[in-house]
Amino acid sequence: MDRQNNMELAAQLIQEGKLVAFPTETVYGLGANALDPMAVAKIFLLKERPSFDPLIIHIADLEDIKKLTTEEDERVYQLAERFWPGSLTLVLPKSKLVPDIITSGLPTVGIRMPANEIALELIRTSGRPIAAPSANKFGRISPTTAAHVRKQLPDVDYILDGGKTTVGIESTIIELTEKGFRILRNGIITKEDIEEVLPFDDSEKTESIVAPGMVKSHYSPVKKMIVADEDIPLDIDKSKAGLLSFTGKYENGYRKIIRVSENNDLKEYAVNMFDAMHTFEDDNEIDIIVAEPVAETGIGKAIMDRLRKAEYNWRRG
Ligand code: TXA
Ligand code: MG
Repeated sequence: MDRQNNMELAAQLIQEGKLVAFPTETVYGLGANALDPMAVAKIFLLKERPSFDPLIIHIADLEDIKKLTTEEDERVYQLAERFWPGSLTLVLPKSKLVPDIITSGLPTVGIRMPANEIALELIRTSGRPIAAPSANKFGRISPTTAAHVRKQLPDVDYILDGGKTTVGIESTIIELTEKGFRILRNGIITKEDIEEVLPFDDSEKTESIVAPGMVKSHYSPVKKMIVADEDIPLDIDKSKAGLLSFTGKYENGYRKIIRVSENNDLKEYAVNMFDAMHTFEDDNEIDIIVAEPVAETGIGKAIMDRLRKAEYNWRRG
């Protein structure tokens, strides 16, 4: 098959119910025609994703929101105006058009308009809204390059290569409430950013389940991974360890170091985090991946959310 960036072919494959991996500004997505349940089912199979974990639908035109949701709240358009195209996913009541397999049976659907020209062109050329999770195996490190996708999903029908993604971590996910908004997943668009448009709702949640995909372990390398907290004795063999270094203060003795930011910039940490984890995962000289923690404010919340989930299984056992 043609491995070049052939948009016509990629769009045709989407129309035929095949899977196309494509870049967004956050991470690469594994895309299928959102209106074709059989095509969407292939996403779950290839990713080995449990059926209870719902997918996000990607649109290129604000009008599409009217087809996919029953929400008529004008706050949706205020948010879209401010943040789209961009890394904000809105969870809204779904319309009948949205197949249940996408939402894992929930009455709501996650929707976003990605800020990436290749992604937008794929949606427009295929003429279909595109359902896409991150293009990795379930639970593994998210992909920020086409090579990361190829590594985990060699059997995908087609990959559009857009180089390294510019944000590096998944979108912020929010839901609307009477009072304002709640955050279901942190991302590069922070609570403070959204508060410029809507009030944050800090009231207790009454419903029992909101985001079934918010599992404790995720984004995990196949090697041991640990966050270099002050509270854990780092009695690891550093001669076999690779460090994701942010400030430089932990660098002593490590076999390899990747500086995730040149000048203490959290956005750079986000851009380089998954790529650095992939690099160490692929490096035969490295047995353990260590990551420097950051303060859990602003973008730091989204970074620490990923790092905590990546280390979760390893820390416990
Ligand atoms: O940046 C992103 O959001 C990337 C790119 C490809 O757009 N996509 C992504 O998708 O991160 P995924 O499937 O890896 O994560 C989507 C998460 C799910 O795990 C689920 O927790 C949440 O979105 N989600 C989707 N629909 C939802 C819904 N109706 N209610 C609550 N949570 C939902
Ligand atoms: Mg994912």
